Amino acid sequence: MWGGRFSGGPAAIMAEINASIGFDRRFAAQDTDGSRAHAAMLAAQGIISQADFDAIDQGLAQIADEIEEGKFQFSTALEDIHMNVEARLIEIVGEPAGRLHTARSRNDQVATDFRLWVRERIDQTDQALTSLMRSLVDQAAAGADIVMPGFTHLQSAQPVTWGHHMLAYVEMFARDRSRLKDARARMNECPLGAAALAGTSFPIDREMTANALGFDRPSANSLDAVSDRDFVLDFLATATISAMHLSRLAEEIVIWCSAQFRFVTLTDAFTTGSSIMPQKRNPDAAELVRAKVGRIAGALVALVTVMKGLPLTYSKDMQEDKEPLFDAADALALAIAAMEGMVRDMAPNREILHVAAGNGYATATDLADWLVRVLGLPFRDAHHVTGRIVALAEQAGTTLDALPLERMQSVEPRITDAVYDVLSVEASVASRTSYGGTAPECVRATAVAWKERLA
Ligand code: ARG
Repeated sequence: MWGGRFSGGPAAIMAEINASIGFDRRFAAQDTDGSRAHAAMLAAQGIISQADFDAIDQGLAQIADEIEEGKFQFSTALEDIHMNVEARLIEIVGEPAGRLHTARSRNDQVATDFRLWVRERIDQTDQALTSLMRSLVDQAAAGADIVMPGFTHLQSAQPVTWGHHMLAYVEMFARDRSRLKDARARMNECPLGAAALAGTSFPIDREMTANALGFDRPSANSLDAVSDRDFVLDFLATATISAMHLSRLAEEIVIWCSAQFRFVTLTDAFTTGSSIMPQKRNPDAAELVRAKVGRIAGALVALVTVMKGLPLTYSKDMQEDKEPLFDAADALALAIAAMEGMVRDMAPNREILHVAAGNGYATATDLADWLVRVLGLPFRDAHHVTGRIVALAEQAGTTLDALPLERMQSVEPRITDAVYDVLSVEASVASRTSYGGTAPECVRATAVAWKERLA
């Protein structure tokens, strides 16, 4: 393709390090789409003849089919997807194929292909996250009134509801989707026509190719167009945050499944056994989802490190942009799908959660709030009184709602029987009706609203 001034061939190791066809064949479809749009524009502008366009277009359609059907012979000697496609086009249509690369370079070509690929992945990720959110909303609606311990520092803090906990993740994944949307809007500019770096002297119509490929507009600066990989970094940054969210939920599932917690049960579908310990049921899928963030965050760091310090415009360094992205995108897709599977599979253990919710004096804040509301104590004093009552309960080895009234009155004589109305875990969660609170009625209403939004 560029051999005019070369007489010798590349060293074997040169060919090996230079070739990207092993991985960039993944955007074969984007490459033929981009070339067809470019050829149509060249013809519309009178830069190539209609007859040449017809030959090129049919040839590219045939190549797209060959690739789709797995019949295409990829060649490492031809370096990358762009030259593989062009070489095949020459085989099929002959001389007109040589006119396709007019007013274009592999630099704007690869930037265009890659944007098309990432854009599609953004859309697929958005779909997958939406589907995961639906599974969480279903869990939330079914378990709106299941009481469980809410933790801070992984210490019992206050009772919360299962549904509320599920909806917390819905909020996170909704933000991930909004980040994807932002990234998509920012990246949807077409580099095609920037040519090698400086634009072209041919009378091209960049609006036309941008339109044909579903971009909002052509990119405004040819130097930037061929050297920008922000769009990949934007996706990887979003993917990293999303994978981090998945990892947190995965970690909770691992904890919840343990014999010491038994908060949830996963079926055979999402667990594995041990080859030596017959009693084991391991949450491998959750552990793997928990781990995937490593390679996804790694991809972000890898690419930002490749791009750092690169002078404008294109450098071959930038060929190293693809493998980390492909790996991260695949890992994210797998992690989201596995998480959706687990969320649909897992069953919260209502009784165990209920008992655990009452452990650790989780309604102590409710007692303090009661002292403020009913006896008019300043919150700081109420906090102190409650602390002393908790100490008594601890000595007696009982929960707060089982501590006799006389014991409480030994700390604060004005406490009455009515205090027991707020000391159960049900009463505690039912009282948390402030906007965004954990009360079952709030959870039910929010789950309904999400169901409608996600329909
Ligand atoms: N395979 C190359 C890449 O992925 C395509 C662009 C090559 N451009 C060049 N000037 N050698 O980056």
